[in-house]
Amino acid sequence: MISLDAVKELLEKTQQTQLLRFWDQLGDEERSSFLAQLSTINLKNVNELFGKARDTLRENVVKLDSRMKPVPQELFGAEQKTDDEELDLFRGAGLEEISKGSVAVLLLAGGEGTRLGVSYPKGMYSVDLPSGKTLFQMQAERIRRILTLAKERTGKKGRVCWYIMTSGRTNRITRKYLEANDYFGLDENDVVLFQQGLLPCFDFEGKILLAERNSVALAPDGNGGIYRALDDNRILEDMERRGIKYVHIHSVDNILVKVADPVFIGYCIKKQADCGAKVVSKNGPNEAVGVVCKVDDRFQVVEYSEITEETAKLRDSAGNLTFRAGNICNHFFTTEFLRRIVKQYEPELKLHVAKKKIPYVDESGDTIVPSAPNGIKIEKFVFDVFQFTNKFVIWEVPRFTEFSPLKNIDSVGKDCPSTARRDLLHLHKYYVEKAGGSVGEDVEVEISPLLSYAGENLQTIVKGKSFNSSTVIKSDDECNNTANGHFKHSL
Ligand code: UTP
Repeated sequence: MISLDAVKELLEKTQQTQLLRFWDQLGDEERSSFLAQLSTINLKNVNELFGKARDTLRENVVKLDSRMKPVPQELFGAEQKTDDEELDLFRGAGLEEISKGSVAVLLLAGGEGTRLGVSYPKGMYSVDLPSGKTLFQMQAERIRRILTLAKERTGKKGRVCWYIMTSGRTNRITRKYLEANDYFGLDENDVVLFQQGLLPCFDFEGKILLAERNSVALAPDGNGGIYRALDDNRILEDMERRGIKYVHIHSVDNILVKVADPVFIGYCIKKQADCGAKVVSKNGPNEAVGVVCKVDDRFQVVEYSEITEETAKLRDSAGNLTFRAGNICNHFFTTEFLRRIVKQYEPELKLHVAKKKIPYVDESGDTIVPSAPNGIKIEKFVFDVFQFTNKFVIWEVPRFTEFSPLKNIDSVGKDCPSTARRDLLHLHKYYVEKAGGSVGEDVEVEISPLLSYAGENLQTIVKGKSFNSSTVIKSDDECNNTANGHFKHSL
């Protein structure tokens, strides 16, 4: 642990002495926990960090239109433009690698979920589906189903390691929740939790804020903190030990996410990509979503605020938006690519700055919960590594089968619990109808991920059947074995 003298010296050099404002009033225990926390912060570089972040804030105002090009056609695959035979080729390639144990899932679950406003990790959220399943449970069960599909296809079940990145606030409770629920039927050895880093929060003048009299206000370093966290937690070594070659990275909050999607993985492998992004077509020029494109010959996600309306409205000869590749935080990386990023490029990652309302302790020691933004949080983004790829591809998928994020409270009316629930049930109705069943008006039919991953395996159960009351269609195992079907949904 760092000594008080060393802290004082560093804080004087960096003009952050306000952090010790209450030192004389602290008890022994408070002092030692404060020093322990300060030891985890890179105090030497805090001003450089703030300076870089402030520059980024200025840069953001610049529009990128004149430097942007769409991703070239040959790197732009689309599920809807691919015939069934080729889709099955990709699926087969993905399942083959899954059965060899070469595929891992990396779940980004370190966010604070401030917009949704719950006190527990977002993965534990239930949108009140008929089954009551949470996001974590559905994702774990999709992995279990994919292992069954790999076995059916190749004769070998394989493994998919589920790496879950948490942060200070979400780590302990996520761990306890998964443990209490027996990892939702996954092998405990294939579920690996690790924590991302935290960065100090600053006021607009670059002074670090105190969250309490003896603690600095810290926030997770963004989902791009994954690269540093992979190194700090020796996850790449763990991947190497397990023989993992391909990683599917995605956010925790897309209720439709196809975890370890064999089609996407197979497509990226067949194209020999080291980095891939799954995208959905923007639903209009004004949708506030980042688009994947080329800027000065490097791949990048350009935020909605970085394009003028004129460019956002551009259309190609087929009438599609020129810049339509909406980024959905769903990526493929080879472990080789991850290694390059972690060992070489991580320090070059761009810093993004968000003005936020950050609770702090004022000069008299009172905790203030501000009603307007009073400072900045600094974040890195997972997609900012696209610029370092040697072979990049994108894979466009239909929104209604793949993407419905949970970001907001219901009153916002968009990307919220009701829309996530609606979209999942709408998709499941579609699957039932496609398999020859019918669903009455206002009837809710939910399909267990243990029975069907993407609409397969339903015909024998639903063909010719009418569903006139709300139902959860379960796998045989779930019906026979209550231990498999009934998990605690909270702690
Ligand atoms: P968002 O940027 O939407 O943030 O995260 P959030 O934390 O879920 O919600 P708000 O903005 O506070 O309301 C997209 C994905 O990135 C993860 C989130 O958990 C989510 O899966 N994430 C975000 C991290 O893993 N770490 C972070 O520091 C930030």
